[in-house]
Amino acid sequence: MTIAAFRNEPFTAFTVEANRQAMEQALKQVASELGRSYPLIINGEKIVTEKQVVSINPGNKDEVIGHLSQADAELAQRAIAVADATFQTWQYVDPEVRAGYLFKAAAVMRRRKFEYSAWLVYEVGKNWGEADADVAEAIDFLEFYGREMIRLSGPQPLTVLEGEDNRLTYIPLGVGVVIPPWNFPLAIMAGMTAAAVVAGNTVVLKPASTSPVIAAKFVELMEEVGLPAGVINFIPGSGAEIGDLIVDHPRTRFVSFTGSRDVGLRINERISRTQPGQIWIKRLIAEMGGKDGIVVDNSAPVEEAATAIVQSAFGFQGQKCSAGSRAIIHADVYDAVVELVIEKTKALTVGTAVENVAIGPVIDQNAYEKILQYVEIGKAEGRLVAGGSIAEGNGYYIQPTVFADVAPRARIMQEEIFGPVLALCKADSFEEAIAIFNDTEYGLTGAVFSAKREHLEYARERMHCGNLYFNRKCTGALVGVHPFGGFNMSGTDSKAGGKDYLLLFTQAKLVSEKY
Ligand code: SER
Repeated sequence: MTIAAFRNEPFTAFTVEANRQAMEQALKQVASELGRSYPLIINGEKIVTEKQVVSINPGNKDEVIGHLSQADAELAQRAIAVADATFQTWQYVDPEVRAGYLFKAAAVMRRRKFEYSAWLVYEVGKNWGEADADVAEAIDFLEFYGREMIRLSGPQPLTVLEGEDNRLTYIPLGVGVVIPPWNFPLAIMAGMTAAAVVAGNTVVLKPASTSPVIAAKFVELMEEVGLPAGVINFIPGSGAEIGDLIVDHPRTRFVSFTGSRDVGLRINERISRTQPGQIWIKRLIAEMGGKDGIVVDNSAPVEEAATAIVQSAFGFQGQKCSAGSRAIIHADVYDAVVELVIEKTKALTVGTAVENVAIGPVIDQNAYEKILQYVEIGKAEGRLVAGGSIAEGNGYYIQPTVFADVAPRARIMQEEIFGPVLALCKADSFEEAIAIFNDTEYGLTGAVFSAKREHLEYARERMHCGNLYFNRKCTGALVGVHPFGGFNMSGTDSKAGGKDYLLLFTQAKLVSEKY
């Protein structure tokens, strides 16, 4: 197989008329497909259950995106059994052939880019740019992990010992339970699933309950490109009914999870209990969230810093684990930066994602209530300088909200809100700003704005986060360019989109032959 070197999928410029029209056309087409029913898929068999759950548009609550069949305990058991049986053949499929399915899926997704973006606009309320970036990242993961598997299946360097043939291979683990998030419902879901599968594992995929249709679309795509039945088994269902069951199952070999800290910790505890019949130590690959922030030095260009703060805080309504929900600003430039942040935040329009405005809805009623509670907490902890309440519309709309003069240990400086709420904090020195940044239980992303080389070098060593950016925003990691994952309560530092990632889905086997 001849394969070009990996390159990131370019983002779409919607300022180009042809692209804008293509997106509008895709939105119309997808609108005509809303409200359909999606079955479970186990061993390639489409199973329709009596119990159905509705996925709605968070920006227009009356619009049904789709109806999803729901797995019960018996169907979840069946999915694990099928994945287990399919592993007996899939693990021996040539890695190049496995990678081929990913490359083909990437090609099809690229051709239907606008259509996938449109599904994201409707199902989770991403504006066009955010949706397009999500699709581009999904394509990147497919292309990147396909290449990575081919690389890993080649000869691995070992010290030579005369008279022996020594070879190290990376073999798969077995059945993986994949529990993806709703906030990158195509990219992260497809990346987690594709990484497991290309490495030779089989998967039981339980999509997020607020973004199951886009996951069903991906599973349809994998079927379309000919992935054998049973390699990906698709089982939407309630966490309470099937979540623990599939995590606990003795034939589950690993769990790949992206989501909240609390659910991640729960899974971590559960997999550490050995079940009767279990013959391995289960592995957890977890990406759990953050309380990310931007540090602004007194030497920083204030305009650029303020722009990055606002973009990092409010992109996709702040619903990114990488979102910059804190900014820690040197006292010398504090007032100037705060002023600009207020101005830029107030300029953001709130509205539907279909209209492609800056700020869309948050994902659901629970998120809406939780974020509004944090807004109230913020009113007691800081000075409200922008937003602070709900916004108009038939959905979960909240104004982008900024609190100034917040203390480092305030709850809105410590707890992940996962919504459009930004806390600004003043520091008397650069060193103090870094100490405030580090003073959380998370460690996912961070950024520093400074013109001083020694300060950047100080930050390089001292800021404790998995993805640290200098003089730019703290969101928008690119596959292959910025391997993504964090420290402490942010997860297992599993670097998605990096050269180490597939190793997490494999185990190394050494065969030594004496001549
Ligand atoms: N990888 C995304 C970002 O960097 C977050 O999941 O924004």
